[in-house]
Amino acid sequence: MYISKLKQLPIWGLLLFVFGCQETDVKVDEIYVFRQPEHFPKATYTLDNNPVTKKGFLLGKKLFNDPMLSRDGSVACSNCHQQGTAFADSQQHPLSRGVDDRKGIRNAPSLANMAFIPEFFWDGGVTHLDFVPLNAIESAFEMDESIENVMVKLNRSETYQTLFKNAFDIDEITTPYLLHALSQFMVMMISDNSKYDDYLRSEEALSSDELAGMELFTAKCESCHAGVLQSDFSYRNNGLDIYPLDSGRTRITENANDWAKFRVPSLRNVELTAPYMHDGRFKTLDEVLEHYNSGIQTVKTLDPSLENGIVLTTDERAKIIFFLKTLTDREFTSDPKFFNN
Ligand code: HEC
Ligand code: HEC
Repeated sequence: MYISKLKQLPIWGLLLFVFGCQETDVKVDEIYVFRQPEHFPKATYTLDNNPVTKKGFLLGKKLFNDPMLSRDGSVACSNCHQQGTAFADSQQHPLSRGVDDRKGIRNAPSLANMAFIPEFFWDGGVTHLDFVPLNAIESAFEMDESIENVMVKLNRSETYQTLFKNAFDIDEITTPYLLHALSQFMVMMISDNSKYDDYLRSEEALSSDELAGMELFTAKCESCHAGVLQSDFSYRNNGLDIYPLDSGRTRITENANDWAKFRVPSLRNVELTAPYMHDGRFKTLDEVLEHYNSGIQTVKTLDPSLENGIVLTTDERAKIIFFLKTLTDREFTSDPKFFNN
């Protein structure tokens, strides 16, 4: 019957139909291929060991949005990492909120460009992207669930059994595959379509205010917020507190010289990721710049480059903010491939 229907089509219609389909098929699949932006540092993620496939990505997306990964089925990864804010937390949560509305100790960061960064968390406590979800799932402040129990729940679900079988050709779901699926979803969160990227690719010009802001940024901020991702990925103390509540990098290294040092954050999409700093203490970019201008606390581990603060006039602060807003990538925050559907 299918054939006879086709026979009714004129031959050019048939050709158009066949080639048309092929073309859209290719396009659809291309969006699930990992691409390395030319002007970015080389991906740090071990893609050879876990190449992104359409089925793996879609499975990772389903898991990312599934509250089943938490103890009482109330909290998904996407509760704290939302696409509209470049996969940072909603603005209402300076400190993240987990199961039973438990308050965490830190602000959930954006997940943009995870494929290119060397270490994770504000203190660098996790050194491979695949291991991040273990922390999220088992943390009492986040999902408060044991990984063993997650595996039991997943293996009980016929839907997940089929999806894992299709993505990885396995009959029993085990932890490494859960982690690989989540990583496939996260490494595709590439944000390289801001105005700043267009400028770097010579596709768009920056305004004179934005250019002036970029010059100021290069002079005053780039020693730490370096390169196209605005981070040298070092750990520094930027003078927030005399008596910090969070010991930062020391939690990992147990070295007193690392006291209250935090990873220099990327500033990609920073316009959308308020509030700011590891504990979300600043609500606006203006407050952040006021901190660098007049709020630096002199503590033992303060970065030497900040001893005298970063003196900025009101006009200079405004220009830096103009520049920071060129790092916003609305194609990323509205990309339908990440929609939970
Ligand atoms: C209750 C809120 C919450 C939930 C749920 C949550 N996260 Fe997070 N996430 C955070 C916070 C807070 C941090 C920062 C932790 C730190 O620095 O100590 C973070 C950090 C991360 C990072 C590292 C980002 C960076 O720049 O270093 C990744 C990746 C991540 N989460 C992925 C996930 C995944 C995947 C899940 C689900 C399995 C998840 N998160 C669930 C709050 C949450
Ligand atoms: C000495 C290194 C250093 C210099 C110089 C520096 N920063 Fe930072 N910046 C940091 C560190 C470290 C953090 C994270 C601190 C924390 O959360 O405890 C940070 C955090 C930020 C944040 C918050 C980002 C977020 O996602 O929460 C913004 C915005 C920012 N800096 C902008 C700037 C600007 C603009 C300048 C220049 C005027 C500047 N920084 C200069 C090290 C530096």
